[in-house]
Parts: sequence; structure tokens; C-alpha cells
Amino acid sequence: MKRAVVRWVGGPVLRARPQGPFMMREAVHVGEQRLLGEVIRVEREEIVVQVYEDTTGLRPGIEIIGSDRLLSIRLGPGILGKIFDGLLRPVCDVAVSGPYVKPGGDILPTQSFPFTPAVEEGARLEGGAILGHVQPPEGPRQAILVPPDLNGEVEGLVAAGEYPEDQPLCWLKSESGERQPLAMSHYWPVREPRPVAQRLPSDEPLLTGQRILDCLFPVARGGKAAIPGGFGTGKTVMLETLAKWCNADVIVYVGCGERGNELAGMLEEFTHLEDPRTGRLLAERTVIIANTSNMPVAAREASIYTGVTVAEYFRDQGLHVALMGDSTSRWAEALREVSGRLGELPGEGGYPAYLSSRLADFYERAALVRTLSGQTGSVTLMGAVSPPSGDFSEPVTSHTRRYIRCLWALDAKRAHARFYPAIHPLQSYSVDADGLAHWWHAEGCTRWKELRSRFLILLEEQARLERMARIIGKDAMPVRQRYTLLCAELINEAFLRQSAFSKIDRTASPARQAVMMRLLGQFLEQSEKAIDRGVTPETIQQTPTFRRLMRMSEEIGEGEWERFSELSRELDRALNALEV
Ligand SMILES: Nc1ncnc2c1ncn2[C@@H]1O[C@H](COP(=O)(O)OP(=O)(O)O)[C@@H](O)[C@H]1O
Ligand SMILES: [Mg+2]
Repeated sequence: MKRAVVRWVGGPVLRARPQGPFMMREAVHVGEQRLLGEVIRVEREEIVVQVYEDTTGLRPGIEIIGSDRLLSIRLGPGILGKIFDGLLRPVCDVAVSGPYVKPGGDILPTQSFPFTPAVEEGARLEGGAILGHVQPPEGPRQAILVPPDLNGEVEGLVAAGEYPEDQPLCWLKSESGERQPLAMSHYWPVREPRPVAQRLPSDEPLLTGQRILDCLFPVARGGKAAIPGGFGTGKTVMLETLAKWCNADVIVYVGCGERGNELAGMLEEFTHLEDPRTGRLLAERTVIIANTSNMPVAAREASIYTGVTVAEYFRDQGLHVALMGDSTSRWAEALREVSGRLGELPGEGGYPAYLSSRLADFYERAALVRTLSGQTGSVTLMGAVSPPSGDFSEPVTSHTRRYIRCLWALDAKRAHARFYPAIHPLQSYSVDADGLAHWWHAEGCTRWKELRSRFLILLEEQARLERMARIIGKDAMPVRQRYTLLCAELINEAFLRQSAFSKIDRTASPARQAVMMRLLGQFLEQSEKAIDRGVTPETIQQTPTFRRLMRMSEEIGEGEWERFSELSRELDRALNALEV
């Protein structure tokens, strides 16, 4: 066994004299407690190790033991529906004291699952091929795949039955005659993207149920979005809302450096929340990775990669996975802290020069893919960014912008006015939007693209006119401009505003979003004609129909299509009847 002796301890960073060849990124165990660490620098006479647990009490002279394996996590059917720390070790006592991990605690305890083979003895399997399926007592059926880096002929395959996760189900005999055991679970290095057959262009949205996202700033399946926002602007509520309502098959939620009690609250809610898609519990298809502010800082750095690796593992089974990270800023701060301990030259804002490339490594792993077994799967990444004092020009926000395709910028003013979700319609954008227009068209929302730009233009004009209104007063403005302000207010209130806590409106199906969009389109056309006839915006504003339109999101629920049609007919009648 390879060893090293600690010579220097600086918080989570250790310097040690190696006895034997250590690898870069090798997982190691430190001291009697076997604390988990990773080699982050290898020199001739010294290795540097980052420890993922509390290092209080460590001193020079303590021994480090190598594992001959890169820092890896064990992927298998036992992951779904559970909560882990940043290195996929089970977390206990979340409800009582926030997430907590036993020091030196290892990988998850082995569970048994009923396994049914999908192949026969003698079959030749490539990496990524389906070996069989397991049906956990709770939660969806899962495929067991050959790990991406193995292939060969199946030997000694077990019959259908219940087996422990780490027991070999068969051996794979390679052409050179080497035999590799194959179990339900396998190890994979967290920093290494799992291979795929092909990355595909994405033309399908990840539906979020949030109108401002789905209709104005949509994210594609396999896309990447960032949610920057100052303290209290609604990042956490937004990510939780996405976790609850987006149409992914599996949710990976990484709570990174934020308060432990927040996560505990969310867990409490998740354990009762019914999955709208299956009628079972949402928690059954969710994986939570917790590295809250009360947990060791270095593990935070790994947690993001652990999260994506878990997401890729389910993607490889032909599933659509959504990962939420709250918050990537806390992750970057962990990077900065460790870098400081290493005595590296600080860059912008004290962050190491490799901040940008690390962010790229993370967001690069979002994709819609053809898996090794020929199925389609995706990983969509959504990361909150918490810029200090809400300043979006700071390094984490500005580097993140280079790698994402959707920016959902939260605005302190909107949040202050309790306008939720507080996404700023002019600072936000989606590069995916154009490619998703035909999806909406095929869904029957034929005017999606046109109405989307109409709404955005109105919101843009509103910003300009409001500045003017502050100077000359709204009453002094010409009719056309007052009318534009009225339309923009309607778009904001009736469409973009959506409370995460409203029973009727917390999520909206694409059909309901489309019908609301159409109604607003109808209003824009018919009210325009009324204005042409000389009707004033104030008269329109005072009609009961306008007020009903303003309240439709809170009053007309999912599936109440007849009430929407009635509102449409009423709009027709009322606006055509308006006289000067
Ligand atoms: N979409 C929303 N709907 C209703 N209320 C919201 C919404 N987003 C945020 N809030 C309110 O704002 C508060 C702060 O939001 P939070 O997500 O904790 O902020 P952050 O994570 O950005 O610091 C929440 O407790 C909630 O009352
Ligand atoms: Mg938060």
C-alpha cells in the first residue's frame, strides 16, 4: 500500500512526503479516521492533498493512504430518492441539525434489488449496453448498463432474483481473455464526463411550467441556464419550483454552500409532494446532493461534479435529467479558499485564474445526446449565481455568462415590489428560443414566435416610456404611449407574474400558457382597433373584461378551456362595443 506522511496542515489542504507514486486526482484516506481526500498536486518530494472533511485535529506525522483510484463515486440503482454529501456519501439527520456526514463515512451502504437480465449467456456487450433491469420497491424501474469503459462476452450470468448492488451479476470476457466482474453498481471518476455516442442539437424545450421562462426565455433539453440574483431575489424558490414542475424524468438538486435549514425545509416539503406525472412521491425520482454552509468547504468543490456525474449516469439510461445548483458562487468561493491555502496567485476578485475553465468544465457537460446504447437522453444544467451586492459584473457572473445559453436575471427592484418570479425581462435572454419556436408551432401555438417578440418589444418600450413618464407625468403623454404602457402592464400582470405558492398558478401546462398567450394577442389586436377609433386607454382599462383578463392566471385553472373561450368571446364583444 502506498503511503505519505503529512508535513503541513493548512485548513483543508495538506502537504505530505510520499512513499510511492501517487497519481494526480487520486482518492486518498487520511489518518485513523480515514478522512476522504484527493491529490491535487504531485511533485517529486511532495504531494498536496485536499481533504473533503473536517480537518480539525490533524497534525504533521499523520499518514495518508493511497487508493490507486481517481476520486470516484459509486453509481447504481440505490442512488435515486436519496440524499448525499458532495462525494455521494449518505447524509443523516438532515431534519434535526441540517445535513451531516459521519467523518470517514464511506460510500453508500450496499442495498439489494430485484434484477431481471435482458441478455443471455454468451452475448457480446459493448460499453453502455443494457444488461438488465431492476425494480426498486419504491420509484421507477431502472436499467443496468455495462459501464462505458468495459466490453466483452457475458459469462456466468445470474438468473432473475434479488442481489446486492455490488455483487457480480456476470463476468465480461474481453477479446484478450481478461474477465471483468459486472455488478449493478460501478465506480466512475467525478471529473470525467461519461462518454456518449453523439451530442445532438436540441429542438425540444425543457418545460418549466413558468410562463416567463417557457414563453420568453425557454431552455432546451440539454441546455444550460444561469440564474444570477442578489440576496433574497428568489433564486432558491426558483430552483425549487423548477425541481418540482419541470418535465425532466430525474431531478438532481445540488445544495451547495447555502444554509442547511433551507435545504432541510425543502426536503421536508419534497417528502410529501406528489409527483404530478406519476401520482407517487416526487422524492422517488430525485437525488439531493447537500453541501451546505455547515459542511466542510472543500467537498463543495467536488459536489458540482458529483451532481453532473449522477445526472449523466441517469442520462445514459435514456432519461431526461435536470440538475439545479444552488449556488455556483458558493462553489467558486470554495475554489478560492483552497487556492488561497495553496498559495496560488489570485486573479480577479481573488478567484484563481482557472475559475473560468472550471465553470466551462461544468457547463460543458450539459447536452442532449444519443447514448452508447442508442437511446436519447439529456442533462440540462441550471445554476444559481449569487453575486455580492447584486453586481453582475463580478467574476463568477461574468465568466458564467460565457458558457450558458439562457440567462434568467433576477431583479432586486421586482423582488422588492413582490413581483415574482422577479426575472428581469430586459436583462434576461435565451439563445435557445429561436430553435424552439417550431416545437410550440407543432403543439398548436402557431403564433408563439410572433407573440413572444411582440411581448418583448412591448416590455422594452415600457422601460423607455416609464422613464419619460417620470419626467413629464403620465397624463401628459400622448394616447399611443399611454396605450403601450397599458399593454405592457397587462403582459406583466396577467402573464409574467406567477406565484410559486399559488395553488392554481404555481405551474402552467404548455396548453394553458398557449391559450393565455392567444388571448393576450387577441386583446392587443382588438384594443388597437378601439384606440384607432378614438377610444382612450383609460376607458379600456376600466372595462370589467380588462380586469378579468388581468386576473385570469389566478382565476382560470388548468383544463378550464371553456372559461378561457368565454373570456375570449367576452373580449370580442366588449372591445368592439367601445365607443368614443
Ligand atoms: N416565485 C416566487 N413566488 C412567490 N414568492 C417568491 C418567489 N420567489 C421568491 N419569493 C419570495 O422571496 C423570498 C426569498 O426568496 P429566496 O429564493 O430565498 O431568495 P434567494 O435564494 O435569492 O436569496 C422567499 O422566501 C419568498 O417569500
Ligand atoms: Mg437562496
